[in-house]
Amino acid sequence: MLFFVDTANLDHIREAQDLGILDGVTTNPSLMAKEGISGEKNILNHYKEICKIVGDGKDVSAEVIAVDFKGMVEEGQKLAALHENIVVKVPMIKEGIKAISYFTEQGIKTNCTLVFSAGQAILASKAGATYLSPFIGRVDDITWDGIGLIKEIYEIYDQIGSETAILAASIRNPLHIVQAAKAGADVVTCPLNAILGLLNHPLTDQGLQKFLEDHQKANA
Ligand code: E4P
Repeated sequence: MLFFVDTANLDHIREAQDLGILDGVTTNPSLMAKEGISGEKNILNHYKEICKIVGDGKDVSAEVIAVDFKGMVEEGQKLAALHENIVVKVPMIKEGIKAISYFTEQGIKTNCTLVFSAGQAILASKAGATYLSPFIGRVDDITWDGIGLIKEIYEIYDQIGSETAILAASIRNPLHIVQAAKAGADVVTCPLNAILGLLNHPLTDQGLQKFLEDHQKANA
């Protein structure tokens, strides 16, 4: 399973990269705004900076703002031309499916975002999306079952032989990561704190403290 970090914060991306476990980055307009990145030039430069940090061969999702086919295509082509790591992130709407089909024909990678149902997953796969982003946290927020959605999509994609990768998004905590892995996600995109949360276990801390104390006593 691939690990992406879900942020536009360069320090968080660097920290995840330094761990040596980072396979890619996802961003969205809200995450860019949170970092105070605005204006076309600054946004494009920020994507270039992210690509530079993660290095070659790691997918970086950059989301289009346009909601019409022509606008999405123009924006997506500009984003894709920035760096070979760029994956064009397109919302799951009618014009978005048209744009994903177009980008697929052009050999441009896509990430179909804002996915909340199995039906949407089938359509995105048919259009040739490279990644599919079901938002598990937002599904849980309305007391539906986000992990259940990943399982359902996994079962369908397995059945139809889909080549679209299931990218579990809107991850809120380390348990979501474990559950997404069990449910068959190909990729998890997580805030840095959810990734770091995977490290925690009190028995690890206690065990390490005891090892160090015993070593110190024996070598005093
Ligand atoms: C990433 O691709 C998504 O845009 C992101 O995971 C959404 O997360 P949120 O639901 O926490 O905003």
